[in-house]
Amino acid sequence: MKHVLETLEERRAVARLGGGQARIDTQHKRGKLTARERIDLLLDHGSFEEFDMFVQHRCTDFGMDQQDKIPGDGVVTGWGTVNGRAVFVYAKDFTVFGGSLSETHAQKIMKIQDMAMKARAPIIGLFDAGGARIQEGVAALGGYAEVFQRNVMASGVIPQISVIMGPCAGGDVYSPAMTDFIFMVKDTSYMFVTGPEVVKTVTNETVTAEELGGASVHTVKSSVADRAYENDVEALLQMRRLIDFLPSSNRDELPEWPSFDDGARIEPSLDTLVPDNANKPYDIKELILKVVDERDFFEIQDAHARNIVTGFGRIEGRTVGFVANQPMVLAGVLDSDASRKAARFVRFCDAFNIPIVTFVDVPGFLPGTAQEYGGLIKHGAKLLFAYAEATVPKITIITRKAFGGAYDVMASKHLRGDFNYAWPSAQIAVMGAKGAVEIIFRADTDPVKIAERTKEYEERFLSPFVAAERGYIDEVIMPHSTRRRIARALSLLRHKELENPWKKHDNIPL
Ligand code: HXC
Repeated sequence: MKHVLETLEERRAVARLGGGQARIDTQHKRGKLTARERIDLLLDHGSFEEFDMFVQHRCTDFGMDQQDKIPGDGVVTGWGTVNGRAVFVYAKDFTVFGGSLSETHAQKIMKIQDMAMKARAPIIGLFDAGGARIQEGVAALGGYAEVFQRNVMASGVIPQISVIMGPCAGGDVYSPAMTDFIFMVKDTSYMFVTGPEVVKTVTNETVTAEELGGASVHTVKSSVADRAYENDVEALLQMRRLIDFLPSSNRDELPEWPSFDDGARIEPSLDTLVPDNANKPYDIKELILKVVDERDFFEIQDAHARNIVTGFGRIEGRTVGFVANQPMVLAGVLDSDASRKAARFVRFCDAFNIPIVTFVDVPGFLPGTAQEYGGLIKHGAKLLFAYAEATVPKITIITRKAFGGAYDVMASKHLRGDFNYAWPSAQIAVMGAKGAVEIIFRADTDPVKIAERTKEYEERFLSPFVAAERGYIDEVIMPHSTRRRIARALSLLRHKELENPWKKHDNIPL
């Protein structure tokens, strides 16, 4: 018996070494951890249970039958816990054929995807891989398509998170693209469909990996990735934090953590947050941080379309999704990027029963040819559509401007908002006073008359009261009581029931 136990340990030791010590050293020299080191950091200590450690590839082409077969075949899979809650994980092992995906490697991932769906638990992929294993040809392509299909079936059922921790190409960017969130590591991770060498051959463009698909490209410009972190350790610890915000599946309750922050906490400083001058910016994140439990806010897409802020916080220990126009950036205007960013976030929250709190200070949609040619109509419609179809509790607070179509879009009463509050500083109108007077009284040239008309318009419309008189605003509230109001509303709406009519699926303007 002792001999068999020793054999098992020996075989395990070989598998744990992946592509060998030399390749592990190279991985470390590049500032990257190995697949197993990453899993250890991500999961609760000692909770990881591995599957398929001894799986090997079956390829015989291109001399693959002559090479040493490496147990595990380039991906470490299994499950464990994050703060006691189950999660499934797979981590690409770059030391084995660059983490590339073979037929058997794909089968390992598929097994984990199927188990995560059965167990209704989140799945996290740690990517550091060069896509389809070239030597395996269509067997690898088929493997990817099977993984993609499972990504799609799991979408909206269990949270799927991808962390890009090395150079990733082909299927190793397409599978992440179908998951809920993508995170990157600065300076060591890249995402591209084809790498710089192929780009040079096909388009004659010379570009570095960083310029083509580094963290700054994908978190700022393309918005493919949701956030970037300084190194592997920070990224993995932040994933633990994110998991704490998310329910295990679309049928599970939201996680509830002990909160030491009184739901009725009053925040007097909010009474002076909005400047007297309507054109002066202020930081909407200050409002979010002062409203959430213990100032704990996990921002999604912090570097892209910063004119809108999205992220998770908690009120009385339960997760809430926040969407807020940011007056500090482009005056909080809604453009195509901001609309797409917020629409995707709203849909995630709705799929996973996370209530949405919306803070509104928006001067409208951004005018101009650049926006119109870029499809602002369609992109803006995404946000409108997302809010309108959402059945989760929706609480909206207008802090200052709610102008034009943007008033409608930002979780207004008309889109089935449950609680629609306004601060006394709110201004709800089709547009600002200057623009309105210039259009309605175009014929008037007398500056005194124009000033009078402007004042009249400001008094009539630039307040929350016309909307409140119609019941579009449920109540005008004191800013200092915002957290208490939201906490009470969320508690009331905890078992909210609202169903959309049956349909196969809707047709959101993509
Ligand atoms: C087999 C691969 C591989 C692959 C890398 N390797 N990618 N082996 N199949 N796809 C191997 C290398 O041969 C090398 O082996 C080791 O992994 C490390 O790779 P390097 O190139 O030395 O590393 P680096 O310079 O860091 O570059 C990483 C890389 C690059 C950017 C990922 O390797 C690369 O461009 N690989 C090819 C990417 C690609 O075109 N994949 C196919 C995509 S098609 P040795 O033994 O020398 O250490 C696809 C289909 C899905 O994925 C379709 C989606 C819709």
